[in-house]
Amino acid sequence: MTRLDIDQLRKETPGCQNVIHFNNAGASLSPKSVTESMKNQLDLESDTGGYEAAQLVVEKTKQFYDAAAQLINCEREEIAFLENATRAWDMAFYSFKFNPGDKILTCVSEYASNYLSFLHQAKRSGIIIEVIKNDASGQLDLTDLADKIDARVKLIAITHVPTQGGLINPAEEVGKIARSFNIPYLLDTTQSVGQMPIDVNVIGCDFLCATGRKYLRGPRGTGFLYARKTIIERYEPPFIDLHSAKWIADDEYLLSPTAQRFETWEQNIAAKIGLGAAIQYALNLGLPEIWARIQLLANQLRQRLTDLNGIKLLDLGCNQCGIITFSSTQKPPEEIQNYLRSMDINVSVSLEEYARLDMSKRHLPALVRASVHYYNTESEIDIFCSELGKFIKDRT
Ligand SMILES: Cc1ncc(COP(=O)(O)O)c(C=O)c1O
Repeated sequence: MTRLDIDQLRKETPGCQNVIHFNNAGASLSPKSVTESMKNQLDLESDTGGYEAAQLVVEKTKQFYDAAAQLINCEREEIAFLENATRAWDMAFYSFKFNPGDKILTCVSEYASNYLSFLHQAKRSGIIIEVIKNDASGQLDLTDLADKIDARVKLIAITHVPTQGGLINPAEEVGKIARSFNIPYLLDTTQSVGQMPIDVNVIGCDFLCATGRKYLRGPRGTGFLYARKTIIERYEPPFIDLHSAKWIADDEYLLSPTAQRFETWEQNIAAKIGLGAAIQYALNLGLPEIWARIQLLANQLRQRLTDLNGIKLLDLGCNQCGIITFSSTQKPPEEIQNYLRSMDINVSVSLEEYARLDMSKRHLPALVRASVHYYNTESEIDIFCSELGKFIKDRT
């Protein structure tokens, strides 16, 4: 059991009154206080002017950095605010100067946008992409990772929790290997941050990207990048502006010495305040408590789905999280999603193109993804399983 007051947390979450939301890996339901913090800022902007409103909330916007730094155990100067996880990841990845023949090591479950960027760089710079094999459980194989390391490996870039399943890749063990060979390590924690405790010093990554709208329960269009302070100055962002750099002479500029070099001047201040409020909300509850509750619900849901005839669980790995994926022998994923939606139950469908290496290997063109958060309940799991059971039995 956890110390979270679920009834109270649900009261603070307006969406809980309308839907059974098992699409937290898509975008979670935000707490009312998070939405209010953004509305207040938009009102202030409308009443006083955008720049003037920003000046009135300087301290509030700074809180975003403090909260994000506390969340992943780093310093505020190591955090950059960006509009999503993809751009955060891009700012790190495209800061690397690759030469033809340089290698990148990645994992089978890598997210599509990241892999597309590898392909993009392979085309532009002649890098070689090497995919670390999975072990028997389906997680990244650490022995294969160590075996693949040679002098040409310039980056290890992996996804912690993939979009298409409950797998948790062994990020800490990868960090140990990366450190022992002194190879930069870029970790995509889009699905894990806010769901489980993340400590960049325990993991040992150099860069980490995260998004606001998923397990952090923040607004859409927000994300952040962590860049380890000891390496920041080695990386020149792919594009710069008057916020990330200073124009100090007609032909000279100076990049910010902090993670600010990865940001742009113009930002959605309301969304930044909202993300700060969402992170603070999670910190107040406690990440260990959040994680314990998610695991409890995920285990229950997996167990209940195992008992349903015709449902096949698809999650890989020794350690699994709040993302539960499955298929049915009776109905395609899209039909299941649509039916559940008509019953006010939200799930999503992951397509092969979101994680081609993994899903094509498993011959999965699509799967259903039900992702739980701490504010979900056992009775929601009951309703979900009962509706799913009814639908897949229905032969029409
Ligand atoms: C593992 C993973 N990485 C990256 C992303 C991209 O995040 P964003 O949409 O915030 O750019 C997603 C989105 O689903 C994801 O699941």
